[in-house]
Amino acid sequence: MAVDPALPSEGYRLTVGPDGATITGGDEAGVFWGRQTLRQLLGPDAYRRAPIRPAPRTLPYPTIEDEPRFAWRGLLLDVARHFMPKDGVLRYLDLMAAHKLNVLHLHLTDDQGWRVEIRSRPRLTEVGAWRRRTRLGRGDPPVWDERPHGGFCTQDDLREIVAYAAARHITVVPEIEMPGHSQAAIAAYPELGNTDVVDTARLEVATGWGVSPHVLAPADQVPRFYEDVLTEVLEIFPSRFVHIGGDERPKDQWRASATAQARIRAEGLRDKAELQSWFIRHFDRWLAERGRRLIGWDEVLEGGLAEGAAVASWQGYAGGVMAARAGRDVVMCPMQEVYLDHWQAGGDDEPVPFGWVRTLRDVYRFEPGPPELAGTEHAARIIGAQADMWTEAADSQQRVDYRLFPRLAAFAEVAWSDLPAPDERDFENFRRRMDAAHYARLDAMGVAYRPLSGPLPGRRRPGIPGLPFAGPPRERSHP
Ligand code: ACM
Repeated sequence: MAVDPALPSEGYRLTVGPDGATITGGDEAGVFWGRQTLRQLLGPDAYRRAPIRPAPRTLPYPTIEDEPRFAWRGLLLDVARHFMPKDGVLRYLDLMAAHKLNVLHLHLTDDQGWRVEIRSRPRLTEVGAWRRRTRLGRGDPPVWDERPHGGFCTQDDLREIVAYAAARHITVVPEIEMPGHSQAAIAAYPELGNTDVVDTARLEVATGWGVSPHVLAPADQVPRFYEDVLTEVLEIFPSRFVHIGGDERPKDQWRASATAQARIRAEGLRDKAELQSWFIRHFDRWLAERGRRLIGWDEVLEGGLAEGAAVASWQGYAGGVMAARAGRDVVMCPMQEVYLDHWQAGGDDEPVPFGWVRTLRDVYRFEPGPPELAGTEHAARIIGAQADMWTEAADSQQRVDYRLFPRLAAFAEVAWSDLPAPDERDFENFRRRMDAAHYARLDAMGVAYRPLSGPLPGRRRPGIPGLPFAGPPRERSHP
């Protein structure tokens, strides 16, 4: 094991000869990814937590030189909608490492729960980490699980997650949502909400799904509050990027709020959309002053893009294309392609289905680079790709496994490899490699993946309806 700076960052050379295996990396990360490839050659038992038989004494004699296509190969884990305790997050870091993914985007706060301990604001977890009950699926009339749900990570839990990730050359990017997706925070601290429009003292942590109308108030105390929150977040997470959300904030409360209207006048803003930018610009500057960079969902483009902000393009490709042309870094995670909580086949027996049908083949054909940018100077602004795992309908690790796998393996190959154009990709070859080796590795790691033949009986959810097909994938309209 050695580092050779002549090799690319994260790249490696693996040679196997009579005297054993040698791995040389462009950096320590490259050596680590080379070790992951060696583990692949060792067979599925190498993925168990303890040896169950002697390791193979012979290996194929390859020389492999490899390097990633993208520097950001991400997985978003939504631990807000359903809380996933620390052990589950650590397990996904192991699974990410095995797939050479290197960014864990932790979605820590949302309407349905606040999952990070903030010492200066204890009610965020005393109140905001718990909800009274939970809507099951999206049926009408609603079905409820009447058990309270919740939990949160202590700061030391998160430090452990960050350290465990770092040992695997994975960066953890925290997401603290604002100004939308903030109902749990407002339930904990009613003064964060639009108190001149609604009685936020009566608000509870959201129990159902969809976009909550309860957004942060553009009042002086709110950015101060979030500065205190982010000060503690920065102490836990050393990542250069910090995600501040910025998506889906309905403007009805701002329209009705005298405070919001006064803010628009005082700051010379054009409209309510610019109130959103008022938050984003503030934290763009605030993070930059602390040596960090803001990343937000593509709505941060509305009403003027903050100076150094990077964009996670989720509504489709258009936001990412606009941002790249404006000289911003972009992570491609279009919901039509790589929201891995969505249907993975069209059968009636899919558990609590949702969104668009995205099969294993579809994900293998996901192309992060928009064709409009190919060959232009802006193409290099696409710094990576990310698969997003939202958990409205995935209330346990098994159910997260089911939605993520095997599709995350296809995504990982797309994010790492220089594959041909989507129509020319050899899915049958990928499928053969899955059958010949990779399902056995997933079995050895205890992954509750979806077999291509359909859900095993214990994975079905009869009586809990999801949402019908969303129709053919389409972009959301963009300013
Ligand atoms: C999102 O799915 N609202 C980022």
